[in-house]
Amino acid sequence: MTDFNPSVSVLPAPLGGTLVRRVWQPGRDFDPAELLDRPTLALSERALADLEMLATGAYSPLAGFVGEADYLSIIERLRLADGTPWSLPITLPVSAEDAARLSGRVVLTHAGLPVGTLDVTERYPARKALEAREVYRTEDAAHPGVAALYAQGDVNLAGPVTLFEVPRGAFPAQHRTPAEVREVIEARGWRSTVAFQTRNPIHRAHEYLHKVALELVDGLLLHPLVGQTKGDDVPADVRMEAYETLLGHYYPAERTLLSVYPAAMRYAGPREAIVHALSRRNYGATHFIVGRDHAGVGSYYGTYDAQEIFSAFTAEELGIRILKFEHTFYCRSCHQMVSPRTCPHDSGHHLVLSGTRVREKLRAGEALPPEFTRPQVAEVLRRGYQGA
Ligand code: ADX
Repeated sequence: MTDFNPSVSVLPAPLGGTLVRRVWQPGRDFDPAELLDRPTLALSERALADLEMLATGAYSPLAGFVGEADYLSIIERLRLADGTPWSLPITLPVSAEDAARLSGRVVLTHAGLPVGTLDVTERYPARKALEAREVYRTEDAAHPGVAALYAQGDVNLAGPVTLFEVPRGAFPAQHRTPAEVREVIEARGWRSTVAFQTRNPIHRAHEYLHKVALELVDGLLLHPLVGQTKGDDVPADVRMEAYETLLGHYYPAERTLLSVYPAAMRYAGPREAIVHALSRRNYGATHFIVGRDHAGVGSYYGTYDAQEIFSAFTAEELGIRILKFEHTFYCRSCHQMVSPRTCPHDSGHHLVLSGTRVREKLRAGEALPPEFTRPQVAEVLRRGYQGA
């Protein structure tokens, strides 16, 4: 079931109307024997993740790595060439030598094994400085997304992809395609679902956002990103254990779904927030949380830039409601999680820990305060860091 039928579903239509399905099917797709003499291209971690996102429909309406018209249109006006909102260029950069050698159907490999195909329709130069300035808002090579951009090949290959098999990876029980997440949402009868993106362990501030949202909508899709992250982020396996522990103790099971989001992190802040929201619509969410400095890194973006950027689109174009939250933290005088919208006390009453400070404490084997992290979660993190 890939076509969206509004008469039988309360789920949002995928962006573009139809959930893209480009996972190889015998009988429908080409015979693998035809591929024996085809050229091969080894994919990076990020390109492999993009291949999966494209082929499973998470990036609908994109069905392949973007061509030049879409590339420039995304960079310059936050839209595909046909006007559909889209904010990150999903490209397949290769070296000039690889670009010259690859044409027609190319077999994509990872760790020496074939994982899918690309039907090359175009090759064009990557505009790295333009991409850095517009997508990342900086040309500073210290930004991890810009560093990856500068390190990649100079030519983008474009064309539709096919994925041989959904890689269920390290978390097979929580690894669901957009179609599978939609099925769970329908089976549970949720008429509204809020999706939450995270690349961090769930702290009390995150939990507060979830619970405020759960007062308003039927279900929570806890959707941690498990693709490539920068080296000092908490590893996905430690985070997954922490999520399961937290859900087991503090969340209503029938109103929560933990599922992984396989994309790689780009740290593009506001630009990434848009794709994070649109792709969660493809997974069937009706609402998406954007808090402080969403998908940001260092001090490249303003605290609420990732909220403000959504004003570039109408509600109809987005097709998913953005739940915007101000910075939340624990107040020792209110004895609860608060934000500047709800608390009258000054910062001396507030417990605010940066991600960097948390990692420092974990590495030093120090305890995280219960006002910041649930003790059961703190224990999982402590163990995760002990072995590191
Ligand atoms: S992100 O890179 O995935 O955005 P993180 O996991 O820290 O990083 O954040 C997940 C979501 O929670 C984002 O929408 C972010 O804006 C929001 N968020 C994180 N911490 C806070 C906080 N203290 N107050 C409000 N929102 C927050």
